[in-house]
Amino acid sequence: MNKWRHHYPLYVLLFLLFVGTTGLYVSYKQHSNTEPLTVASTQVTLSSSDAISIEHGRGLTHECITCHTMDEGGPARLGPNLFGILGAHHAHMKGYAYSKSLANLADRIWTTEALDKWLQSPTAYAPGTTMAFPGFIDANDRADIIAYLKTLK
Ligand code: HEC
Repeated sequence: MNKWRHHYPLYVLLFLLFVGTTGLYVSYKQHSNTEPLTVASTQVTLSSSDAISIEHGRGLTHECITCHTMDEGGPARLGPNLFGILGAHHAHMKGYAYSKSLANLADRIWTTEALDKWLQSPTAYAPGTTMAFPGFIDANDRADIIAYLKTLK
């Protein structure tokens, strides 16, 4: 017992040394592991960001499908079918009764920029349009919807 007491400071010192070096070793291991991991996950995020946008855009089109079908050859609902809308002319669907205001723009092409403006505010883009939709304020939401519409071809 006396001997233990006598060596007590030494044991404490040894214990602290042990904890200290283990801690150092663990943090070294963690550090050397994180860097390659971070690089790898960044690459994954970059390569799948398009897919994430498209998926998000597809989700947002639940706002459109009450009025629009999106499949090839799909029928008109309240609005025209939207398959292949990117690159198509305005008022593109044969037999659909467009408003005068959209029919008057029939020689314009639905580019990304045109769709972006349309989806921000249909009534500002074509005053008198019959598309009763307030539009999306968020530019990222619009970009994601357009990314999804682009896949419909
Ligand atoms: C309340 C019904 C309704 C909703 C909801 C709606 N639309 Fe429309 N959409 C219409 C109507 C009606 C037209 C025809 C407008 C006209 O003739 O002025 C139209 C026209 C369009 C056109 C022009 C098509 C062409 O041939 O030129 C695009 C593009 C379009 N809508 C996209 C969308 C998208 C994308 C959404 C969802 C974010 C959406 N719409 C939501 C009713 C709707």
